[in-house]
Amino acid sequence: MKIFISGSADGLGLLAAKALIKQGHEVVLHARNAQRGEQALHRVTGAKDMLTGDLADPDETKALAEKANAFGTFDAVIHNAGMYRTGAQQLLQVNTLAPYLLTALMNRPRRLIYLSSGMHLSGHPEWTNSPSYSDTKLHVLMLAKALARKWPGVYANAVDPGWVPTKMGGAGAPDDLAQGYQTQVWLAVSDDPGALVSGQYFHHRKPAHYNRLADDVSLQDQLLAECARLTGVSI
Ligand SMILES: NC(=O)c1ccc[n+]([C@@H]2O[C@H](COP(=O)([O-])OP(=O)(O)OC[C@H]3O[C@@H](n4cnc5c(N)ncnc54)[C@H](OP(=O)(O)O)[C@@H]3O)[C@@H](O)[C@H]2O)c1
Repeated sequence: MKIFISGSADGLGLLAAKALIKQGHEVVLHARNAQRGEQALHRVTGAKDMLTGDLADPDETKALAEKANAFGTFDAVIHNAGMYRTGAQQLLQVNTLAPYLLTALMNRPRRLIYLSSGMHLSGHPEWTNSPSYSDTKLHVLMLAKALARKWPGVYANAVDPGWVPTKMGGAGAPDDLAQGYQTQVWLAVSDDPGALVSGQYFHHRKPAHYNRLADDVSLQDQLLAECARLTGVSI
């Protein structure tokens, strides 16, 4: 299968890329700039290619979608890139609007996987232009659920990887790093019936407890409308 992973120069994205390549899949990496991309290619042996684009910049994100479309249609896209310790504008851009834009502009894959977080449980589903990290992680869960509803032929799901020791999670993070990327890998390529579902929130390959307000269709539609208003691109 052919898989694109955003933010695969480091952390869970890089580890998912390595695992998928080891299983024989074609993986296109993504990094914020050429220098990070070179480092990613050095660290991930066997990647098919590497694309660059700063997801904090909407124009670069749109251009990234175009570059990705030059590869045709991916079987799966893992929307993995994310930021935690930064201001609301970067959180909005990188964690919410970039996955929205890439979803809207890339050729539609069969499987879409969004990296959410257990922290989404304290997020607010009503739209705000200055979201917290938790808000943005609820946004991507709502996006997955909205797409599951609107795109019946696509498996769109969200994942809580646990609190794991990456650059974001910090060295003292208590959860298992391998478990932190295996669910995304499984959702991207497995034919296990458990992975061929849509609109679900997973932790360690199992449906997990989530904020039920994410199922609210009017809140999902508000999210899509605000993303469309801010990006100028509709889904
Ligand atoms: N680690 C955890 O405990 C944890 C818990 C819950 C959810 N998550 C989620 O899991 C996902 C992966 O996190 P991680 O732990 O692997 O974090 P990480 O090690 O910090 O990696 C994040 C990746 O996203 C990339 N990225 C960030 N901002 C970008 C931008 N503006 N443009 C392009 N790429 C950008 C980073 O690039 P650079 O390397 O160049 O910075 C990096 O490759 C995130 O969505 C995160 O919210 C993580």
